[in-house]
Amino acid sequence: MPPAASAEEIKEHNARYHDVAAGDYDSKWGISYGEQGRAQVLGKLRRALGEDGRRLGRALEIGAGTGYFSLNLLRAGVVDSAVATDISQGMLDELDASAGQLGLPVETVRCEAADLPFDDSSFDLVFGHAVLHHLPDLDAAFREFRRVLRPGARLAFCGEPSRYGDRLASLPKRAALAVAPAWRVLIGARPRVEFDDDHQAGEHWLEHVVDVHAFTPGQLAGIAGRAGFEDVRVTGEELVAGWFGWMNRTLESTAEKDDIPTLWFHWAHRGYLALKELDTAVLEPRLPPAIFYNLLVSARAPA
Ligand SMILES: C[S@@+](CC[C@H](N)C(=O)[O-])C[C@H]1O[C@@H](n2cnc3c(N)ncnc32)[C@H](O)[C@@H]1O
Repeated sequence: MPPAASAEEIKEHNARYHDVAAGDYDSKWGISYGEQGRAQVLGKLRRALGEDGRRLGRALEIGAGTGYFSLNLLRAGVVDSAVATDISQGMLDELDASAGQLGLPVETVRCEAADLPFDDSSFDLVFGHAVLHHLPDLDAAFREFRRVLRPGARLAFCGEPSRYGDRLASLPKRAALAVAPAWRVLIGARPRVEFDDDHQAGEHWLEHVVDVHAFTPGQLAGIAGRAGFEDVRVTGEELVAGWFGWMNRTLESTAEKDDIPTLWFHWAHRGYLALKELDTAVLEPRLPPAIFYNLLVSARAPA
């Protein structure tokens, strides 16, 4: 076993990994800034906050990446203004480029989550998506979030990996690998040629170093509580839709991309949306958050 990376190494690896990933990040993850992207982001944020319709004032995003949340929230008009922060300048450059194309005013600041260059009590909302699991010192980061929030203001983080949800998702991944040869024959695709690009292979190992946590609901609630937050709420998102998505992504990763018929992607997308409805309407309100693939946490700074 290699020795565990130090906090400084984790931050450096994150900046480097995401700088390299920035160029095709949006296409890899299907990020868009139209109606679909807006609906996804609003849905997640509202689910985390457990409320509808309220305008959210001056917002600070942590680990904003290419702008999935900030740009969609600005377009939806639910935040008055947004400051987008990230440890990776490459990601922020992409965000700036998209903001320019969309004509959206957004301030970008390169900084680390646990060391925010902003005044005390200067934001009405601190939020993020898929970022907490990269942070080496979560207690320090949450203390910073509380410091920059106005009294009584809200915090919301979505899309964090759930420890048990992740374990459950390994089952469809394994099942997909088992049936992949038959699936490729069925759709007429060649097996994917493995990494032959030295640069890509050189950065690939970082994937395993940048993800430092998978959470239980209790851990997330504990971190927020220790930082002095109140009204802490943890919910779960994506169960059968997540399994379906992982199964398809695993199958797709085994085939040459150009050989996969467009019809397959349509089917996979439609199937995912239908199962997502089932998750949202039936399973999420009834089952314990711990078993879902993603966790969402929200809380309030003391008044
Ligand atoms: C998985 S990406 C998510 C990006 C974006 N929020 C989204 O949902 O598309 C995680 C982001 O967190 C950033 N990040 C990682 N460690 C960080 C840290 N210590 N402080 C601030 N940002 C960090 C990465 O550079 C990356 O842009």
